[in-house]
Amino acid sequence: MNYRKLGNSGLQVFPIALGTMQFGWSADEATSHAVMDAFVEGGGNLIDTADIYTNWAESGTNPGGVSEEMIGRWVKARGNRDQVVLATKVRGAMGARFSQGRNTIYQREGLSRKWIMKACEDSLKRLQVDYIDLYQVHWVDNQVPIEETLSALSNLVHKGYVRYIGCSNFSAWRLMQALWASDKHGYESFISIQPEYSIVQPTRFNFEHEIARVCETYQIGVIPYSPLAAGFLTGKYKRDQPLPESVRAQEITNRRYNDQNWNILDKVLEIAGNRNLHPAQVALAWLLAKPYMTAPIVGANSVAQLSDLLPAATVKLSSEEVTALDTVSGWQLSRTEREV
Ligand SMILES: NC(=O)c1ccc[n+]([C@@H]2O[C@H](COP(=O)([O-])OP(=O)(O)OC[C@H]3O[C@@H](n4cnc5c(N)ncnc54)[C@H](OP(=O)(O)O)[C@@H]3O)[C@@H](O)[C@H]2O)c1
Repeated sequence: MNYRKLGNSGLQVFPIALGTMQFGWSADEATSHAVMDAFVEGGGNLIDTADIYTNWAESGTNPGGVSEEMIGRWVKARGNRDQVVLATKVRGAMGARFSQGRNTIYQREGLSRKWIMKACEDSLKRLQVDYIDLYQVHWVDNQVPIEETLSALSNLVHKGYVRYIGCSNFSAWRLMQALWASDKHGYESFISIQPEYSIVQPTRFNFEHEIARVCETYQIGVIPYSPLAAGFLTGKYKRDQPLPESVRAQEITNRRYNDQNWNILDKVLEIAGNRNLHPAQVALAWLLAKPYMTAPIVGANSVAQLSDLLPAATVKLSSEEVTALDTVSGWQLSRTEREV
């Protein structure tokens, strides 16, 4: 198996990464541990989480930290810290909200130096590890200068708490701004970006036109989330048929049910049928065919689901199949765009 370098770093990752947002939400601890066991047995190493994951659906609030705690107990029980690449995130709100007169502020969120240092300490405790491999900024904080954020993240690297830093949900100009600030001030630099990206993701054209070009030029690793559109691309959602059992079914009908996406799914199913592949493998292989792609981050609620997904790491689509998928999803570069 060819592991891939994460951006321009020395970190080698399996081409499929495991997301853990469902841990403590739609997967209990025993299942979550079994999924991570199967992932590592299948060659996987990059496990992605976030401080804010995840049981808001159950309780209506977000105490956060549950997924990190489950991963921490698993790593401790298996004694496999060196084998895995642990990625987590900071930015979202954790815990209580404090009122100050008419203004309500979150004390425990954002990308200030104060919160980043505390959030990292908390994540290390929940994960029960000495260091985080990839510490990612979950999304932009408009209230804080990027220099403050990068300086705080650099401190964490120098203290040995974090090995590499990355970002998520950044636009191209925000990514460029951060790279420029790192260069100018000698801060640690983002090695990766985590965008929402799949063949049915409406913002994918923006990604392909803008962000992907930054990533190729500056060798930033791309580890997209929701590569199966939260399950839509697994083939279990069917036009004019009852919804399958899933905590995400309503989200999928709201976000994904339209004619364009059904047409894309039909093409995915056709290629999967011709090649005797699982539809999810076709959706992942389409991503892995992109020159700037490192490793899509999949979610799995069971070992059975994961075993449908991992073989995608070695599936190669023909150029005709990639073109057919690009065409049905409306992606055709104009001459000018190709020349840019
Ligand atoms: N940076 C960010 O802002 C951000 C945002 C969201 C997620 N993420 C990260 O990305 C990870 C993946 O996101 P995601 O869960 O949306 O990814 P996804 O891979 O698009 O969707 C995963 C879901 O698809 C369904 N599924 C997977 N394999 C299946 C199979 N073989 N058969 C049938 N259904 C299957 C499962 O849902 P059901 O069983 O419930 O149907 C599973 O939870 C998260 O865990 C998290 O680490 C990051």
